This record gives sequence, C-alpha cells and structure tokens, in this order.
Amino acid sequence: MTRILPILIFPEPRLRGRAKPVIDFNPSLDELVATLLKTMYAAPGIGLAATQVGIMQRVAVVDLGEESGMDKPLILINPEITWRSTETSSYEEGCLSLPDFYEPVSRPQAIKLRNQTSKGESRTLNAEGLLATCIQHEMDHLDGVLFIDYLTPLKRNMIERKLRKQKRLAETL
Ligand code: NI
Repeated sequence: MTRILPILIFPEPRLRGRAKPVIDFNPSLDELVATLLKTMYAAPGIGLAATQVGIMQRVAVVDLGEESGMDKPLILINPEITWRSTETSSYEEGCLSLPDFYEPVSRPQAIKLRNQTSKGESRTLNAEGLLATCIQHEMDHLDGVLFIDYLTPLKRNMIERKLRKQKRLAETL
C-alpha cells in the first residue's frame, strides 16, 4: 500500500538540507516514487521533491497534467542540468512547503538534463517553459533551495515571517 506522507512546511530545517544521490536502484526506489506521486496528487501539486517529505534522496516528481500535453508524470532521479538557455522566462511560483504564497521567479527558459530511470539507466531530456521552471524548482529542493531565495529580501522576509508566525500559532493550539 502506497502511503501519503505529510509535507514539511517552512521553516522546517530539513527543507534546507542537501539530498544524497541514489545509489541503490532497487524496488524500494519504485516505492518511494509511488509515494511521492500519491502525495503530490493528494496535495494537490504539480511537483514534489523527496526532501519535502523528509527523505534526503535525489528524487522528485513533476506532473503538469494532461492539458499541458504531458501523458505521464516525469520522474527525476539524480537529475543534473547540463545546459541552460541564456534566455529566461518568468512564472508565478508556489510551493507545497510554503503554502498560499505565489511570486514570479525568473529562470532559464530552456534546459538540457541528465536523468536516471528507476532501473539506473541514464537518459537525456530537454525541457522548456513551465516544465523547465518546474524541473528547476524541484531540483532546487534537492539542494535545500526554495523559490523565496530568488525574491527581494523584503518579500522573502515578509513570507518567512508570516510562515514562522503560523507555525508558532499552530504549536500553541
Ligand atoms: Ni516546491
């Protein structure tokens, strides 16, 4: 039975940790992917990194939905960006770990990627537009980077302060 895991909310310290590369390509990896997918769809969200559920492995999932032309979710295992366009694009980003905050973030418009399958096979991948943004957002999570890190200090502090306050409030209830 695939479980849904609780998603860590900022300022949880594990969100700032660095995930380790996957080295064992065994059935438990498929189980982790299934858990991430189920957790992402339940949220609902369009991307989820393992670090967001406290699992410090370089695994993430992305699914922009059928309307975007994606017929199946993208599974990222040990992803590495090998090329970034100089052209950038900007999308309103949000994050399941920073609920209810949305801000535009500018990132390379297109990327090339090295990725691995759950069997450990290497694949290359090209992405652009919203998909490229989502992949970069999820890959950032694997290095403890959050989208608020790209905002002006003023905006970032405002969001951090509100989330810290919400957490304190939740703990006193
Ligand atoms: Ni996120």
